[in-house]
Amino acid sequence: MSPLLSVAGLVVDLPSPAGVLRVVDGVSFDIPEATTVGLIGESGSGKTMTANAVIGLLPGGAVLDGALRWRGEDVLRADPGRRRRLRGREIAMIFQDPLAALNPTQRIGRQVGEILRRSGMRRDEVRRRVVELFDRAGIPEPSRRLRNYPHEFSGGMRQRAMIALALAGNPALLLADEPTTALDVTVQARILRLLRSIQRDEGLAMLLVSHDLRVVAHVAHQVVVMYAGRVAERGPTSAVLSRPAHPYTRALVQSVPAVRTRTAIAHPLPGAPASPARRPAGCAFHPRCPLARERCRSEQPVVRQVADGRWSACHFAGEVSRS
Ligand SMILES: Nc1ncnc2c1ncn2[C@@H]1O[C@H](COP(=O)(O)OP(=O)(O)OP(=O)(O)O)[C@@H](O)[C@H]1O
Ligand code: SF4
Ligand SMILES: [Mg+2]
Repeated sequence: MSPLLSVAGLVVDLPSPAGVLRVVDGVSFDIPEATTVGLIGESGSGKTMTANAVIGLLPGGAVLDGALRWRGEDVLRADPGRRRRLRGREIAMIFQDPLAALNPTQRIGRQVGEILRRSGMRRDEVRRRVVELFDRAGIPEPSRRLRNYPHEFSGGMRQRAMIALALAGNPALLLADEPTTALDVTVQARILRLLRSIQRDEGLAMLLVSHDLRVVAHVAHQVVVMYAGRVAERGPTSAVLSRPAHPYTRALVQSVPAVRTRTAIAHPLPGAPASPARRPAGCAFHPRCPLARERCRSEQPVVRQVADGRWSACHFAGEVSRS
């Protein structure tokens, strides 16, 4: 069976005053049905560009290459009408800032209802379904709160309203880009629990973009680790985090005490991340890598299978888990 979404050799080039920047460079991964895939990496590693490429939301002048297949259908080459339908219904997006998704001048219940009406729901059913969606998103007193405007909601409640809005189109895939980063820790945990239960109960697939390994560790079944616009490693979350097959993943895990398995001491990542404008030759991670040697400076590693379901872009992947 083909995965829900297959991303293969995805490339995103952006124009810049310094010339064309390759901000996503040959990224491949699958999102199976009803599965959460976490996209992780330091700031600037290309997570948002990758997620936005999936939904066709890129800055002007961006050039895309590679393949995006939705249930086997090539969506990069589909007509604009088909792509719009995909974006509006089958794939929904949750952002870090809910105000970017909500209309400040319209009651929230009406905004959710609008999506239901557009999908052909009868007027008398819309209100009942809006209440249901508010309830599903954990908004208390849904019948009353659907009359509120976005500014009358707290940050966490706005995030829930955006989740209700995303679910209104009955999507198969949720793209969630740093959905809890702007929230305080307690609210963050509640929203993550909500997303996880919605994903499970509704059988949704989710692409969860986060720079926070703890978030991905709690929610994602599979993880894709990005570095400098490329995939460093991917595989089942628990296996990748407990036995990394790439020195970058290992450094990320060691930088977060709660995720690290051997000791409770955090070791911040040494050095600065590579930017697409100044991506080192060979393996982009080599200036920061404790295992780097001559070959790493000249030869770019390909992403290869290192175990069942595990892929790594390190020449010496086998050594990583032993060192
Ligand atoms: N509009 C733009 N024009 C040119 N370059 C951009 C633009 N937006 C982002 N970039 C560059 O593209 C690269 C990838 O950016 P992206 O936003 O995907 O990173 P990210 O992994 O999501 O980071 P963060 O964790 O900070 O959100 C970065 O190096 C960034 O500087
Ligand atoms: S290829 Fe070389 S530099 Fe890159 S991660 Fe592996 S050992 Fe380190
Ligand atoms: Mg981002």
